[in-house]
Order: sequence, then C-alpha cells, then structure tokens
Amino acid sequence: MIKIENLYKSFGKVDAVKNLSLSIKGGTTFALLGLNGAGKTTTINILCTTLKKDSGKVNILGYDLDKNEKEIKELLNLSPQETAVAQNLTVEENLNLIAGLYAIENAKERVEKTIERFSLTSKKTALAKTLSGGQKRRLSLAMSVITNPKLLILDEPTLGLDIKSRKELWKIINELKGETTILLTTHYLEEAVSLADEIGLMRQGELVAKGSEKEIVESSGKADFESAFLALCGGEDE
Ligand SMILES: Nc1ncnc2c1ncn2[C@@H]1O[C@H](COP(=O)(O)OP(=O)(O)OP(=O)(O)O)[C@@H](O)[C@H]1O
Ligand SMILES: [Mg+2]
Repeated sequence: MIKIENLYKSFGKVDAVKNLSLSIKGGTTFALLGLNGAGKTTTINILCTTLKKDSGKVNILGYDLDKNEKEIKELLNLSPQETAVAQNLTVEENLNLIAGLYAIENAKERVEKTIERFSLTSKKTALAKTLSGGQKRRLSLAMSVITNPKLLILDEPTLGLDIKSRKELWKIINELKGETTILLTTHYLEEAVSLADEIGLMRQGELVAKGSEKEIVESSGKADFESAFLALCGGEDE
C-alpha cells in the first residue's frame, strides 16, 4: 500500500503539488495523468526520495518517508522521464553496472535473462548511444526491473516511441503486473486505460479524480474518457 496524505511542494511561486492525497493498493498498477506541468514528475520524485517535500505524509509499503528513507530507497526503483542509461556503455555493461550497485545475486545469469526478456539479445554488446529510442527505453526499464523492486515507478515509459515499440513495452509492463506494484505516468490515455487498474487525474498540483476509466467518465458526466480527461484536467477552453 502506498499512502500519500496532504502532500505539498512548491518551487518559488509555483505550487507544483497541492494537498495531494492518494492511496494505491499493493500489487496494483496505478496511472497518474495530467497536462504538462500538472505535478506528476514532482510527485514521483518525492516518492523516490530524490526531491524533498514541503509538507505532508508519505508511507510506502509500511515505511514512513520521514523516518525510513533508506528502506524506501531499497524497495523501489524508478525509470525516469529522461532515460538513465550510460551512453558509452554497452547494453550488457549498463545492466552489469546496476547488478553490481545493488549487489544482485547470480548477477551474470540475471543480466542474461533480463537481456532476453527485454528483447535486447541482438544489442547485447552495442553501445547504448547506438540504440534506437525504443531500445533505449527498453534498456532503461530493464535496468529498473533487474533490481526486483517492490514498487516500480515509470515516468512516461513510452514517450516518443512508435506504436510498435509502445506495444512491445505494454506487453512487458503487463507481464510485470502482479510481480510488483507499478506507478506510471503517461500522456497516452489509451495506455493508462489498458495498463492501469486505477487512474488518478492531476490538475495544477491537485488530484481532481481517481478511479477506473468507467468511474471517471461517469463522475464527469462526459461521453468518453478523453472528454472527461479534458474537462477535469483543464484542457477545455474555460
Ligand atoms: N526544479 C524545479 N524548479 C522549478 N520549478 C519546477 C521544478 N520542477 C518542476 N517545476 C514546476 O512544477 C510544476 C510541475 O512540474 P512537473 O514536472 O511535476 O509536471 P509534470 O506533470 O511531470 O509535467 P509533464 O507532463 O510535462 O512531464 C511545473 O510548473 C514546473 O515548471
Ligand atoms: Mg513529468
């Protein structure tokens, strides 16, 4: 269970996250949606301990962010909005690096299996900088999954990918569902609908809706999810 209560974060005059309260059931997949600047990455960075909140409470799988930062760091992993691969290392070296940092057991075998699982076998010895965008994204995701996180956070995992690569990643994320709790953000509404058990909509730092696609559409009084999203997230002419 992930529980966020009355979370606040501002940057100067900008209230990036305002009074955000949200709970996510363990083992489920949750998608956080919102227009550019709604506060999704800020929220994620606070959960990942890379950004300090101003106030509020965060509890991740029984650990309090104020008291158990070290434990929280150990149980989650982030695949960031900008991919985190080392460009001058090969696919295999990038994974070996993470395996080493996390002191993963049977590292050689795990790296081998992960390369296969993420369809990177033919690129094993290629430098990361020579990979396509989709391959880099797969490698970035592989680098977070190899650590077996109890909470996997994916910030725009399919940004800029073509439909084929996006579908390949969806397949992988679908396989990961059930293995771990997943929190993801995306600008592709159909991606949120097909991957997530629950969806949260953010607008100017606040959570404006939460539920299944159907629940959100019904509560908005609109005909479909896209119209509901635009109405709730401030994308309609006001
Ligand atoms: N380090 C920072 N310094 C100043 N302002 C920031 C910083 N990080 C975020 N902000 C501001 O906070 C607000 C929320 O940004 P955030 O990156 O969380 O949005 P987002 O929902 O992830 O948007 P996108 O969909 O574009 O990724 C924006 O107004 C942004 O300009
Ligand atoms: Mg973002």
